[in-house]
Order: sequence, then structure tokens, then C-alpha cells
Amino acid sequence: MEDSLPASIFDVETPCLLVDIDIVKKNCQTMIDRCKTMGVELRPHMKTHKTVEGAELMTNGTKRKIVVSTLDEAIFFADNGFEDILWGSPIVPGRISKRLINLCNKLEEFHVMVATLVGLEAILATPLNEGKKWSVFLEIDCGYGRTGCCWNSEEIISICEKIKQSNNMIFQGLYTHCGNSYSPDIETKNSIQQTTFDRLIDVKSKLSGLGLECKTVGCGSTPSCSKPIECLSNLTEMHPGNYIFYDYMQVLANSCDFEDIACKVATTVVDHKPEVQTLVVDCGWTAFGLDAPHDQFKDAPLGQAPIVDHPELRMFSMTQELGKLKAAEGEIDYSKYPLGSRLYLYPWHSCCTTCAHPFYYVHSGEKIVGKWRTTRGW
Ligand SMILES: Cc1ncc(COP(=O)(O)O)c(C=O)c1O
Repeated sequence: MEDSLPASIFDVETPCLLVDIDIVKKNCQTMIDRCKTMGVELRPHMKTHKTVEGAELMTNGTKRKIVVSTLDEAIFFADNGFEDILWGSPIVPGRISKRLINLCNKLEEFHVMVATLVGLEAILATPLNEGKKWSVFLEIDCGYGRTGCCWNSEEIISICEKIKQSNNMIFQGLYTHCGNSYSPDIETKNSIQQTTFDRLIDVKSKLSGLGLECKTVGCGSTPSCSKPIECLSNLTEMHPGNYIFYDYMQVLANSCDFEDIACKVATTVVDHKPEVQTLVVDCGWTAFGLDAPHDQFKDAPLGQAPIVDHPELRMFSMTQELGKLKAAEGEIDYSKYPLGSRLYLYPWHSCCTTCAHPFYYVHSGEKIVGKWRTTRGW
């Protein structure tokens, strides 16, 4: 039986994750409207929230066209009536499981991503039910240096030849994630968007010259899709995910403002330690996550995300269940934070913070209006 909801954000047990539904709706609608204006389809990524409710808002109620980071997410969304799902993580032989094959057979449109010839050969060697074909996106690395076939590699040609010869797959096109667009410098961010786009188009033309057409050419991250440069209108789809909640890193990357951050960790002051100039709260890394700032943000030390309405404080270190706050400058005025009082922490990286929570309390203003359950696992 569902427990009754706490009445307000002041009644929740801590630590817990609070999601502001009004900000979430605004963030989702803004991205939907932007894609519409640009004439680009939105394939939102589910990795940040991993909930049915968040997915419905990101897809404008259609429950179609999403990208997920794990097979568990793919199965979860399929079980909840979603279609046109891309598992956006490279397939290799050891990842072709019964769960994957079942999902391919069950959904009308389920797409896998390959980044290597080895991955492509592995799926081509795996039969599906009669009448079913593998639906495949080719992941291109346009300079981020994570996964994906390097945009100017010879392997792309071999992959293309193999796709052309195959008759048990449908080739969808190209996918790239420009994670290198997370930069506090706008010029750097824009030039990464331009380079990513140019390289993708270069691959598309190369494949076309070899007789392979790409229906889809997709790219995107929250920094690029929140402030897209003009050429991105020539993509067929974009696939940001973090924008549903945003976070402090996105503020530093100029993707959003503080008012756009839709989730916060509610925590309670559990100790005053004037002898070491700290304030201790009941939110450690099990509730906040422990993602270190990426290299581009090295001037923002680990965990130094600000506190809602308390710019004078910073979280500077965490143990498993406790967080230590210090004054951003000077000394802490402990009278402002009595023992047992509440503080609300902006997440440094919301994808990391949300993963620590089995559910989120959803609020409108101070009132709790719902509870979203997340899927977990791989
Ligand atoms: C493959 C892939 N696509 C899309 C995204 C969404 O990007 P963002 O989190 O910047 O919205 C990610 C994020 O890590 C990703 O890994």
C-alpha cells in the first residue's frame, strides 16, 4: 500500500530528494518548444530521472522516442508502455543477453547502438524472431573521446560495407553525444558544437558516397541543446537528458540559471563543530553522490555546490552519511542554523545525485503533490 505523502517539504524525512514539478514542466516544455522551432525531433534521454512520470513530461505525453542508458531502463520503459526506445550504449558480444533479445522481439521499435565492427558482427550473428530485424544506430565519436567509432577512422568504411551486405538489420543513422560541450567558456562550447556537427555531416556524406543513407543524424547534450548554435537545426534529432532537472554544473556551463534547477536534497543539521569551523548535515555521499567536477570545472572543488538561500555556506566534504559544510568566506554564524533545522542542497551533478534515491518527493511550492519511483540497476 502507498504510504500517505508528507504534507509539505518541511515534513519529509531527510535526506531525501525533492523535485519541483513546476520547474520540471517548464524545463521540459522549453526543450519541446525549442526543438519544434528548430525543426528537429527530440529524443530525450532518460538517464537523469529514470521515472515514468518524468518520461511522460519529456515526451509531451506521447511515450515515444526516447534514449536510455541501461537495458534495465529500456525494459522498465517498455513495460510502462513506451515505444521507439534506443539503448544508447554500445553493443558488444558479451552484452547480447536473453533480456535484450526478448526486448527486440517484443517492441515495434527498439534500437541498439553499435560503435565497432565487432559489435555489429555480434548482432548480425544473432537471429531474432521471424520477421524481426535489428534496428541499429551507429555511434560516432566526433572528438569527445568516450565511446563511438572515431569520425575519421577507416573502421567506419568497414562498418558501412558490412551494413550494406546485411539483410537482417535496419540502419537508422548516426548518433553522437558531445559530452565535451560541458564547458564554462561559451566560445569553447560553441566551437565544440560546430566541430561535432561538421564531423557528423562529414561522416553522413562519406556513407552516402558509399551508398548508405542515414535517415537520422542526431547529436546533443544539455549544454549544447540548451543553447544550440544555428547549424544544429540541420540535425534530424537531438537527445539531451539532464535538462529535466539541471544542476549546479549546468549553471557553470551556462546551460541554465539557478532558478531552473528542479531538484534539491533536503537535509537536517545534526551537529555544530565550531572547533573545526564546520556544520554537519545528514547528507553524505550516499544521498548526494560523489561526482567530481570534470576537468573543465577544476576551479570548483569537489562537492562545493551551493546551498539554497545560503550562498554563505558550501558543502566541502562528505562521508557516507554525513556532509560537512563550511563558510564560503569567514566564519560560520551557527545561530542561523539551529540543530534540527533544514537545509536544501543544490546537486553538483543531478544525474549522480538522483541515482542515490529510490524515489523523489514531488512538490509544487511547499506542498508535496506526489512521489516518483525510479528504476535502478543495469
Ligand atoms: C549517449 C548519451 N546521449 C545523451 C546524453 C544526454 O546528455 P546530457 O546529460 O548532457 O543531457 C548522454 C549523457 O551522458 C549520453 O551518455
